[in-house]
Amino acid sequence: MSHLQLIPEQASTFALKVDLLFYGLLALSVFFFGAVTLMVAFLSIRYRKGSNVDRGPMDHSIAKKLELTWTIVPTILALAFFGWSAYVFYDFTVIPEGSMDVLVTGKQWMWKVQHPNGKREINHLHVPVNTPVRLTMTSEDVIHSFFIPVFRLKRDVLPNRYTTMGFTATKPGTYHLFCAEYCGTEHSKMIGKVIVMEEGEYEKWLADGTATTPAVPAASGGEQLFMRMGCANCHNSVNTARGPQLSGLFGKEVSLTNGEKIVADENYIRESIVNPQSKLVVGYPPLMPTFKNQMKEEDLYVLVDYIKSLEAAGASSAQRGNAS
Ligand code: CUA
Repeated sequence: MSHLQLIPEQASTFALKVDLLFYGLLALSVFFFGAVTLMVAFLSIRYRKGSNVDRGPMDHSIAKKLELTWTIVPTILALAFFGWSAYVFYDFTVIPEGSMDVLVTGKQWMWKVQHPNGKREINHLHVPVNTPVRLTMTSEDVIHSFFIPVFRLKRDVLPNRYTTMGFTATKPGTYHLFCAEYCGTEHSKMIGKVIVMEEGEYEKWLADGTATTPAVPAASGGEQLFMRMGCANCHNSVNTARGPQLSGLFGKEVSLTNGEKIVADENYIRESIVNPQSKLVVGYPPLMPTFKNQMKEEDLYVLVDYIKSLEAAGASSAQRGNAS
């Protein structure tokens, strides 16, 4: 970009909402800065030493009105801006149903991206325009932060946990992607490109396996992993004494041996694979070994995705279509 640009362009549905809030806050600050500055200047000139003005006792009825005004008006303004910000933040956290799922893994010092069909890329994120996308993010080492300025999106990427972020890109183009959390020596090189493509082009790009590492089909890969890692030995409908049933588990409440109840979400399933003893389900012995360091985050994600897709009682996993 040749011209000086103070604010990056808006390339997602979310960007305008953030900018409006930003300009709103800016306008409010400028207004009060101006009002206070002008008042200070005016009063210091009017009441300068030797000026001929009334310095008698003040009128308390006016003072009271003034006090009330500058208490009530700013309170209402502050609450209004709180409500507005809360609305924008809520909008940031809610991810539309049916979004396209992409896995982002941070690692010193690169971004790894995995698309729904298993296609992988490094330091690049290709997405279709006008399509809701959900990023599930995790880190293989330290805390990173995934930042796409033109989308006005930034969220921490943590080890041993998933964080999510959703967006709908509105403008095809190539944009900056940054790590926004100091993560070691080459943090400043942990950058990349977000490429927003027309939908047809994205489909073509996705189907073309030559550009990057060969695609591993995520959908069928999950079942293979489930068998290969031996999950099915204990988590099946026959041997129910050894491990809890996984079919229909996702989104249900689970009772733990420590008395707590927890909703089985992606983070719970992931943790139960890498650290099975941390949240034991009531009625099952602590038999399961850890799968920590035995699987890459990408595979772990595929496995979690597969377990998510297992439907309750009897419904076969073959019913599963492409990535959910
Ligand atoms: Cu990763 Cu800074």
